[in-house]
Amino acid sequence: MIGVFDSGIGGLSALAPLEALLPRADVLYYADTAFLPLGEKSDAQILARLSRAFAFFEREGVNGVLLACGTASSLLTKKCKENFAFPVVNIISPTRAVAKSLPKGTRVLLLGTPATIRSGVFASALARQESTVFSLPCPRFVCLAERGTPHASRVIRKTLAPARALAPDAVVLGCTHFPFLKEEIAAFFGSARLIDPAACAAAAAASQFDGNGGGERRFFTTGEPLPFAKRASCILRREIKAERITP
Ligand code: DGL
Repeated sequence: MIGVFDSGIGGLSALAPLEALLPRADVLYYADTAFLPLGEKSDAQILARLSRAFAFFEREGVNGVLLACGTASSLLTKKCKENFAFPVVNIISPTRAVAKSLPKGTRVLLLGTPATIRSGVFASALARQESTVFSLPCPRFVCLAERGTPHASRVIRKTLAPARALAPDAVVLGCTHFPFLKEEIAAFFGSARLIDPAACAAAAAASQFDGNGGGERRFFTTGEPLPFAKRASCILRREIKAERITP
């Protein structure tokens, strides 16, 4: 069974390509919605939430975890070198290969939560001698994506405004919630190429984890199951049910 972790619906941007690659895999999705936005908490708080989630995965007997969260991936890479009971695929390492394939002189813009940008881990993973990496924290984007706000364009444009003059050639969606805002982000940066680490991580997980199962999907949330299930059903275009995680 594959465990997928995110603070909310963001990890669905990794789950969808994972399902396409491994349709028969059994998947347990963990959404820490009670604690969202994770990327606006302290490093210690984020790591504490992660260790709760990992304990849950261990109890449920998962064989591999897809850390479908840029914030958790950054913090775990930076602060936590210990071994876990299962292999963990984060969204940073698989994106490095894509960054390496960009032409020399590429101007790369990394968008992420405040905690991801503060850690510097994602930006240094993308850095190469021949390219420049800029970073921009986008604090309100996670909540916008959670709500599926149709009139978010103004907030998005205002947040991205400081990066317009950088004229990036490539924009890395360093938070798994951001693919749900990608039309607005793409429109703002014109011809810049959008790089989606969630899709990169799903491909890496599909090549490492066992996809032979009964195709079972279970969704757990630390928050209210009904609103989570409603939004997730809308994104995945099928009806899902969510269960509340009991500590
Ligand atoms: N999807 C998470 C990420 O990739 C969002 C974290 C949050 O809740 O702020 O960083």
